[in-house]
This record gives sequence, structure tokens and C-alpha cells, in this order.
Amino acid sequence: MSDSNANDLMSLCKRRGFIWPSFELYGGVAGMYDYGPLGCSLRNNIVEVWRSIYKGREGFVEIDSETVNPREVFKASGHVDEFADLLTYCTKCQAPFRADHLVKDFYENADVLTAKQLEEAFVEHNIKCPDCGGDLGPVEEFNLMFKTHIGPGSARVGYLRPETAQGIFVNFPNLYRYNREKMPLGVIQTGRSYRNEIAPRQGMIRMREFNQMEVELFVDPEDKDWPRFHEIENETLDLIPNTTCEPVTMTVKEAVEKGIIANRVLAYFVYTTKQLLTTVGIDPARLRFREHLQDEMAHYAADCWDAEVLLSYGWTEIVGIADRGCWDLSRHAQFSGADLTHFKRFDEPREMEVERIRAKHKALGPAFKAKAKAIATAMESMDPSAVKDGKLIVNVDGEDIELTDEYFEVATVREKVAGERVVPHVIEPSHGLDRIFYSVLEHAYSHDEKEDYTVLRLAPAVAPIKVGVFPLMEKDGLDDMAKDIYSKVHSHRVEAYYDGSGTIGKRYARMDEVGTPWCITVDYDSLPGGAAEGTVTIRDRDTTEQKRVPVDRIAEIVDDLLAGKPFADL
Ligand code: ATP
Ligand code: GLY
Repeated sequence: MSDSNANDLMSLCKRRGFIWPSFELYGGVAGMYDYGPLGCSLRNNIVEVWRSIYKGREGFVEIDSETVNPREVFKASGHVDEFADLLTYCTKCQAPFRADHLVKDFYENADVLTAKQLEEAFVEHNIKCPDCGGDLGPVEEFNLMFKTHIGPGSARVGYLRPETAQGIFVNFPNLYRYNREKMPLGVIQTGRSYRNEIAPRQGMIRMREFNQMEVELFVDPEDKDWPRFHEIENETLDLIPNTTCEPVTMTVKEAVEKGIIANRVLAYFVYTTKQLLTTVGIDPARLRFREHLQDEMAHYAADCWDAEVLLSYGWTEIVGIADRGCWDLSRHAQFSGADLTHFKRFDEPREMEVERIRAKHKALGPAFKAKAKAIATAMESMDPSAVKDGKLIVNVDGEDIELTDEYFEVATVREKVAGERVVPHVIEPSHGLDRIFYSVLEHAYSHDEKEDYTVLRLAPAVAPIKVGVFPLMEKDGLDDMAKDIYSKVHSHRVEAYYDGSGTIGKRYARMDEVGTPWCITVDYDSLPGGAAEGTVTIRDRDTTEQKRVPVDRIAEIVDDLLAGKPFADL
């Protein structure tokens, strides 16, 4: 899409109520947008498609967790120490810039450069302030999280979450119990995330408050398969592996067998991402999956693929799909002291070497007399991980008794065991909802220069308005009939729009511009005694073809069209 079309699209979005720059009344704030009525519907429809795949088809569960989190959460996740971009200021006009963005034309992957390398790159490539041409200052780290305090005073530090994912990880014990302690366990969450982006200049691609649809699938580390893999194994993906960095098209099965995508479950969800994106209207010819380079991979990722779409901004990441290994649960277990493991039951009990706490009866007896037996029983039922700094706290009859290793030992014994505890691995498709929303609009936008006519070819599943309903004239009972049709068709899932003003051509144009797939018109022939009594015309946006259909079947016809029945088959 040309820059001028991208500008036209943004003005259409503003004018017709898709999105509005936030706080325009007060001059606006970069990287912040409000969704208008049509935008809200389009966005909700995208979320519904995502839900229907993960909750509906795959049986995942959905949660909604807090957006303000205490510091402990992000200390454990690594965000407090690592979630930073490199910042530089212009020494003349003081404008801030993301340092890597200033040199991106010179490097394959500028965001892996260190602060020192970036400062050297400014000199080598003679980079100046893009706004005023001034010299750039030193490069420093800038943590992207918004910091706050929970409650009065400054004792409890909190952060607005930079991803929804952590809310799922910290709820793992609740979710695991809810799932009756079984793996795999799939959880989805959609909601706001916040990143104090340094200099957001790319519209909805880089926002400071944005929406994610995240999926966290907890799996047995030794079972990275997916039961439905065979259903999609022969489908194709356009990939850019990090070994060659060249585009290649291959089947999902080949990608796994050649070791290009790390495992079958990750590959399944790369393909699921393609299904989701193409269903909501992303053009498959402008969609590819790029593997992160080794030095680009997040600290936690074992393998990571970005779904990238071609936009007026160039190839842009809109979804990240990562195998996060055991990073998240291990870190939260380490920082919280909670047990975040899964008990993996073997098919048959196995004889294995295991560690057990054994009581030293000779020491316990004289020291604890009558209580010694109860203490020994309690300690031998405990897991060796309960031993901290060589000490064990045992609870007997409601009393905590601290014991040094004078009274117990951790011994390796051979036993028949029913299973073992493992830290689940996490497969994460993380969708940027606003980026998907914007990409859908760009890919749907078509403008005929000659006719100066704009059509948004939105997929019916996500189109905010599904049907326009018009009386040819707003009189002679045509309006009553059209209003009646409107009320039969309109529901919160099938949005209809009644329009009685202007020429019919103008009304079609208004609906085409906001992506409405079908329009229904009531004319004089529709009326009692008319040449086509009891019928109305229905027009298809993409072909502009019109058909007459019985008015008493109109709601059913719209339902059929929404379910995918071709217009030609009406
Ligand atoms: P980028 O490199 O473009 O900053 P990222 O790699 O930091 O993106 P992730 O951390 O993987 O992005 O976030 C997951 C998804 O959330 C992204 O694929 C993107 O769609 C979305 N996202 C991330 N940051 C923003 C933002 N500032 N505005 C809008 N969407 C965002
Ligand atoms: N949960 C992945 C991300 O937002 O970075």
C-alpha cells in the first residue's frame, strides 16, 4: 500500500469511527488510540474468531487477570532487569529516539546491537537527529514498564503489565487444579498491556497501551506433539528459517522433519496462527513466518517465529509464537517458593533411583522422646525439596519443629514409583490485537483512483456491519418495511445498519467504505400489490451483483451468507 493510501485509510478510520487518536482535545499523546463504534465491533469480531479457534476448537480455558502487578512478578519474569530498549536524545532539540531504529537501514538486525555498538554506528554512518539534524547523545537503557505504587506511600512498587502472559503463569497452581492436574493445559487471555515505548511513530503498530490475545499452552516437556497435527501436516507455510534467512515454502510436516520448526506442537500453532490471520482477512500472499535469529531470541525462548505481514511500514511482526521452555514456571517457582510442577503419572510404575528424606532415629529418640515417632513419620513423607540450607521444618500436631541434618539425611534409594514431577514447558502464540486490526484494514483497503471509490473488502466474519438496510424512498411504507427487516436481522452478533438518506448509490458507497458485505433494499416492487411483492434486493459488496430474495427468509439468508454460503448460490 502506498503512503498516500495509508494516509487515506487513517482518515477514513477517523471519519467513520474505527479509531481516533486519544485525547485529541488536549493535543493527543503519541502511541495512544481510542476505538470508535465500528472499530470496537471489528476488534471484538477478531477476538471472537480467535476465541472460536482456541476455546472452541482446541478446548482451551480463558481467564482475565489484573493489569497492575506487584514488582515480584516482573522481577521473577525478568522484565525488571531485562525489558529495556536503548534510548538516545538529540543534544540540540532533546527529542528522544530508539537508538536501534536510527541505524536499521545499515544492519540486518539492529536491535541486537549494544549501546556502545550503536554509538559507534552513529559515528560510522554519520547519523544525526532526524528532526533537526543535531548530534545524538549517549545511548542508555530505558525500561519500558510503567511504574506505579500500589496503595498509598511508596512501599509497594507495582508495574502495569507489559504482557498478559504473566497473569497466566502466576495462576498456574489454580489453573492446574482446575484442569484436574492434567497436561496439556491450554489457557487464553485477552486484555490490555502497557509499554512506555520511546518514540512511537508507526500508528497502531507501536502503541503505549495496546491489546494482546495471548495463548499459553503448558505441555509435558517430553511430549511436544499435538493430537490434531495430522489434520494440518500437509498444509503449507511460507517460512524464513534463521539458518538460511531465505524465504522457503514447505508443508508443516516437512518443516518439523527437517528440524526447521523445533517440534510438532510449535508447528501446529504456527499453522493455527496462519489459519486465524487468513480467516480474519490477512492476505496469505502478504504473510510469512520468520524465525528469530539466535541472538534475537528472547532470554527464555527455545525457538521463536514471528508472523510478519507486509504493510505500508514494510514487513511487520503481528504475532510472536515461542517455545518458552520451562523458563516461566521455573522462575516463578524459584522466586515464590511455590511448587509449579506437574505430576506425570507413568503408564506402569517404574523402578527408579529417587531421593528420600530418611529419619535418623538414634538422634531423634533421645532428643524428642514421645514425639520422635510422629516427627520421623512426618519428615519421611516430605519431599527433599523442603530441605532449605540443611534444615527442615516439620509440622507435628500444629507445631512447627525446625530440625538440622543431625536428625535426618537425604538418601538415594531405588523404589517403584508411580510417576515423577516435571516443570511443564510453555508454547506461546502471542497476538498483538491492534496490529492485527490495523493489518486487516490495510489488506482490505482498495481504492479505485479513476472512480475515486473506496471499498474495504473485510471478511464477513469480522466486518463491523454485516448488512445495510435501505428503503428506496423514506416514504410510502418502504421505510416501515425496511425498519421491520432491520429489526429482524439486527442482533449483537449480526450488526445491521438502517440508512434512509441520500441516493441509493451514496448509501452503497457509505457501506462499501466501512466494509459491509451485503445491502438489502426495499423498493416499490416489494410492497403489497407490487410486481415482486414480498421480495427485496440483496447486493454483494465484492461483485456488486444483486438478487431478489423473499423478505420472510431474510434473516435466514443473512445467517447462511455469514456461515459461508456463496452469494451466487442464493
Ligand atoms: P517489537 O519488536 O515490534 O517491539 P516485540 O517483539 O517486542 O515487538 P512481543 O514482545 O513479542 O513484541 O509482543 C507480542 C505481540 O504484541 C507482538 O507480536 C505485537 O503484535 C504486540 N505488540 C508488542 N508491542 C506492541 C506495541 N507497542 N503496540 C502494539 N502491539 C504491540
Ligand atoms: N508474551 C510475549 C510478549 O508479549 O512479549
